Amino acid sequence: MVGNTKAQYLVLFSISAVTSKFLDYGVPCSPNDTENICDPAIFLTCVEDTCLCNETMAWDVKNVSQCSFKVMTTCPRYPAHRGPFCYGTAVCDELWGNPYDGICTCLAPDVPSPIGGYCLHLAREVGEYCTQDGVTCSVKEKLACSGTRCGCQAGWLVNGTVCMAGFNARCKVGSELPTETCRRNTLLTCNEETEKCECTRGIEHVWNEESAMCLTKIGATCEFGDVDHHSCVENSHCRTVQNDGAKICTCNQYYHASPDGMECLLDPAEKILSHGEQCDPDNLVEICNYAKDQLCTCPYQSFTCFCECDAGLLVNSRGDCEAGYKAPCSSLPNPGTNLTCNSEAFMKCRENEGNFTCGCDSPLTQAYNPLSKMCHLLVGQECDVTLNPDKISCHSTSICRTTGGESTYCWCQQNYEPSLDQASCNYNYENQTLLLPGQECEDWNYGEFCPHVWNLICLNGTCQCPEGGFLWSGEHPWEGCYPQEGSLRAPLLSTGCLASLTPPLV
Ligand SMILES: *[C@@H]1O[C@H](CO)[C@@H](O)[C@H](O)[C@H]1NC(C)=O
Ligand SMILES: *[C@@H]1O[C@H](CO)[C@@H](O)[C@H](O)[C@H]1NC(C)=O
Ligand SMILES: *[C@@H]1O[C@H](CO)[C@@H](O)[C@H](O)[C@H]1NC(C)=O
Ligand SMILES: *[C@@H]1O[C@H](CO)[C@@H](O)[C@H](O)[C@H]1NC(C)=O
Ligand SMILES: *[C@@H]1O[C@H](CO)[C@@H](O)[C@H](O)[C@H]1NC(C)=O
Ligand SMILES: *[C@@H]1O[C@H](CO)[C@@H](O)[C@H](O)[C@H]1NC(C)=O
Ligand SMILES: *[C@@H]1O[C@H](CO)[C@@H](O)[C@H](O)[C@H]1NC(C)=O
Ligand SMILES: *[C@@H]1O[C@H](CO)[C@@H](O)[C@H](O)[C@H]1NC(C)=O
Repeated sequence: MVGNTKAQYLVLFSISAVTSKFLDYGVPCSPNDTENICDPAIFLTCVEDTCLCNETMAWDVKNVSQCSFKVMTTCPRYPAHRGPFCYGTAVCDELWGNPYDGICTCLAPDVPSPIGGYCLHLAREVGEYCTQDGVTCSVKEKLACSGTRCGCQAGWLVNGTVCMAGFNARCKVGSELPTETCRRNTLLTCNEETEKCECTRGIEHVWNEESAMCLTKIGATCEFGDVDHHSCVENSHCRTVQNDGAKICTCNQYYHASPDGMECLLDPAEKILSHGEQCDPDNLVEICNYAKDQLCTCPYQSFTCFCECDAGLLVNSRGDCEAGYKAPCSSLPNPGTNLTCNSEAFMKCRENEGNFTCGCDSPLTQAYNPLSKMCHLLVGQECDVTLNPDKISCHSTSICRTTGGESTYCWCQQNYEPSLDQASCNYNYENQTLLLPGQECEDWNYGEFCPHVWNLICLNGTCQCPEGGFLWSGEHPWEGCYPQEGSLRAPLLSTGCLASLTPPLV
């Protein structure tokens, strides 16, 4: 109807004027709410504070769910692309003398349901919709409703729109009915005596449920490339194995035939590779330790592959893959290694808004380093100078050193300064003051220091040459502190390594 279309335009216009949210079927609504409205694209209206179909329509779950006109109600003869249409299998039949409107009618042999609204329809073909009211998949045709459409019952196989007898299903030699005829191209044939579908090659064939095919057993003759008729069982191939050219189904490499020849079984593992060892994903007997969650991983699709922990996991010194940083973990006792945080990387299972993931032992004084895959101390934290692997270490850009006294701390090398989060040290390009001998110095001042390249050290709050006969070359500062004639100490000038600075300070 023309008026109808106008009404729709009006609705759409008023919707576009405000930013609206469209509500789905069955969602609560309010008739006065102009922002949250029942989705007009699927013809919903707000009925008694719920988005439903109006009284002339019903919720149709055929293909795209939307409201459709009930049987015996008026329908547009030329609906828009997305409808509205007649419900289910009904069609919009013409109404005499009306160019625009028709009436939703059941097509024979369908009849309207006694309570009205929809057509009673017996679906006789594979693929017909079956979730609407009144639709039944025909049992006689061996159909059953699966999901939204009719499919074949268990034991029957689809051929186009019909169901045909599958392996062991009842059949009749010479029958015209598809449901009584064995589906040929799965290599089935009807046994006249038992009236059941069997594989054409008898004991040389085995029925495979997954591919719904009769496959050739190991040891039986086969034909190359004869995919439709003599496919060998899984993990085997048709190969020439004798001098006379006979072709026989043979198990692939790393597989052996089961005694009945019905399947090829994986050979037992010959060697379990360790973490980090090179592996070959195609080699099925020299394998990574799957029991320890290790997989043969080929980084960047390269040809060299190694046994590595599965994603998110991190190997420990026993070769077990444990949960790595931010990986899911469990705080329950004995959760299995892949849910235990790797404690050698100084991680612990922590709750984070209901989820448990691995984090550093002490997040306030430690930070995770993705390069080392470990947690490290922040710059300025007290550290263990012995480099004991059982104790958490400083980040690789900082070092553990004493500044007099007993305690040792993570400290940035000269010319470096701590990052904003204190997790690591960055090269300091600007604002550095290099102190000369005799000037006051401070161990923790990253901007003002005794340059180590000149072999100067901060001793007792003063910049000086190391003890033991070193002299300052006043003439050429770049020569720094040089060893006096006869001194036993070797010149230290060249290294940028702080280890040589540390001993005089300890
Ligand atoms: C909706 O608006 C009508 C008239 O504008 C009013 O009578 C009614 O109470 C309102 N309903 C609600 C739920 O606000
Ligand atoms: C129901 O909705 C359809 C589509 O929006 C409309 O064409 C029809 O006139 C409505 N029926 C009633 C009774 O409001
Ligand atoms: C609905 O039908 C259309 C055309 O008939 C099809 O392209 C689409 O895939 C169907 N959608 C679903 C969910 O079945
Ligand atoms: C499938 O059905 C067609 C026609 O109904 C028939 O010709 C064909 O042989 C059937 N296919 C198989 C594999 O049985
Ligand atoms: C942990 O290992 C078990 C058994 O190996 C496996 O089933 C599970 O999916 C693994 N979980 C994770 C998070 O990798
Ligand atoms: C918790 O885990 C769920 C499911 O894995 C995820 O959707 C959610 O975003 C996680 N929450 C947080 C706070 O990480
Ligand atoms: C350089 O150092 C001075 C004094 O030490 C300080 O006031 C200034 O903000 C620093 N500039 C930069 C860029 O760090
Ligand atoms: C540093 O000062 C202490 C006392 O303040 C003194 O005993 C020591 O000898 C000084 N060391 C050097 C190298 O000057």
